[in-house]
Amino acid sequence: MLTTGTGFNVIEQQTMAETPDWMNSINEMDDQEFQRWSRLLKQRTGMDVRYARKSFLTTGVRLRMRELGFTCYSDYYRHLLSGRSGKIEWATLVDRLTIHETRFFRHPSSIKLLIETFLPDYIKNHLDENHLQAWSVGCATGEESYTLAIALDDYLKRFYPNIYYGVVGSDISLPALAKARKGRYDALRVKELPPPLLGRYLRKREDGKYQVDEAVRKRVCFNMLNLLEMDQSTIHKMDMVFCQNVLIYFDKNLRHTILDKLVKHINPGGILVIGVGEALDWKNPQMQRLRGYDALAYTKETLHEK
Ligand SMILES: C[S@@+](CC[C@H](N)C(=O)[O-])C[C@H]1O[C@@H](n2cnc3c(N)ncnc32)[C@H](O)[C@@H]1O
Repeated sequence: MLTTGTGFNVIEQQTMAETPDWMNSINEMDDQEFQRWSRLLKQRTGMDVRYARKSFLTTGVRLRMRELGFTCYSDYYRHLLSGRSGKIEWATLVDRLTIHETRFFRHPSSIKLLIETFLPDYIKNHLDENHLQAWSVGCATGEESYTLAIALDDYLKRFYPNIYYGVVGSDISLPALAKARKGRYDALRVKELPPPLLGRYLRKREDGKYQVDEAVRKRVCFNMLNLLEMDQSTIHKMDMVFCQNVLIYFDKNLRHTILDKLVKHINPGGILVIGVGEALDWKNPQMQRLRGYDALAYTKETLHEK
């Protein structure tokens, strides 16, 4: 299993084997306390702990309390709700409570569908200008965003060298976005990238890590965006929206609400790709399911608004 950007799974395994000493200074969360923290997490991020692991929440809170010297849950909770310093602290805690597991080419079928079926048709029949824009929603540490950039770069250079592209990656976690901007990854994260693409788009550093090529990095930008606050943000229309492995942590109603909002940001004829099994029963009158690949994807109809 990959560790999260925070190395969390390591701590989780350790907790199961034996409780480290520092944990003993902070009581276990009782049910009432757990309900309070899970409510806060759901209100602010949409994440429903029924879809993640309970230990993820409890260990995350306890670890952060220990770092700050808190021993009482209520004191830390009050601190989080207190003005500017609470907001700053929330930005750190939310990183600990969200799951950033990701890797390059995590779901190859989605990329295959994009390159083999969607792009040839979209460029020929729907693209107005010579510019394509993709959005990786819930991009974590950036692997999905760079995967899209690499796939687009490779395809466009071969068939449409005059078409430009850009990729936006967005996430709620500021530390994850900071890592994404660096574009530097452990070998484990890039091991599913086809070797010719790895050789062309990433450079192996002396420390064994891989650095994304500067020309690709320039095409990708990262922004903080909480999916629950999409209405308040200015997001341009996109040709491609990838939202994979994000909705799994939300309840069904919220998944559908977010997907309906994402549709508004897609150009006519554009594509929405979500994680397989993440919202199988979602329907939107403007979106048509694209079949034939092991991927959950929809294209936007062209008759309605632009
Ligand atoms: C498991 S990662 C998915 C990464 C990538 N999309 C992939 O498929 O490999 C889920 C990401 O969703 C982000 N996330 C969770 N709740 C969010 C919210 N309300 N708004 C924006 N991002 C959120 C987390 O911070 C995390 O980085």
